Amino acid sequence: MIIAIDGPAGAGKSTTARRVAERLGYPYLDTGAMYRALALALLRQDPTLDPQRAKEALARTQLRVVWERGALRVFLDDEDVTEAIRTPEVSQAASRISTWPEVRARLLEEQRRIGRAWEQAYGGVVLDGRDIGTVVFPEAEVKVFLVADPEERARRRQRELAARGQKVPLEQVLSEIRQRDAQDQQRTLAPLRKAEDAVELDTTSLSIDEQVQRVYELIRERQRRL
Ligand code: DC
Repeated sequence: MIIAIDGPAGAGKSTTARRVAERLGYPYLDTGAMYRALALALLRQDPTLDPQRAKEALARTQLRVVWERGALRVFLDDEDVTEAIRTPEVSQAASRISTWPEVRARLLEEQRRIGRAWEQAYGGVVLDGRDIGTVVFPEAEVKVFLVADPEERARRRQRELAARGQKVPLEQVLSEIRQRDAQDQQRTLAPLRKAEDAVELDTTSLSIDEQVQRVYELIRERQRRL
């Protein structure tokens, strides 16, 4: 079973995906982490992110994701960058490079390969991102589209950053979220949008436990019907 969870930044995708996967005994592939890792590699080579110069750097960059003891770890060559990719700079850069065709083509192929392999190995897999239900796995058995008000998403992101010791003013987080929403929705290739057959869930006034429970029930219901 393939479970696709899409939606904008801060809607609760990764926490929900991780916890639902844990309850089902499935691995969880955070596809945003793959865009982030490539963004970090490119930023290190060239902070201006010039698309021409990036081509060569992309070819040299080895990206690897590993599902290990219930957690996803992301590597650039042999360096573990799981934590280093969680900064506002990398968020913006990931959103920017995710509009580039060569980046999308490469990650699309890798995400399909990893998704299929993990589904085979574990009986199911949970993926979250922007285009899982529309492009990566349009045939996914379960598709969820999480949404929430931008102000609430900004508050959640701010708390997440604070927990990692990064103090960022709320207005700044909100403006970055709006900028990222616009960029993710307006790009030509695989833009952020709800698949026609996805179930939309507004998490603005839901607790994490409630979100997880709703998505979990949806999956169980689908499993019973398969
Ligand atoms: O989910 P996230 O915030 O970690 O994702 C970072 C960026 O990566 C996001 O702004 C857009 C891009 N992305 C994408 O284009 N497609 C995906 N499936 C996942 C992320």
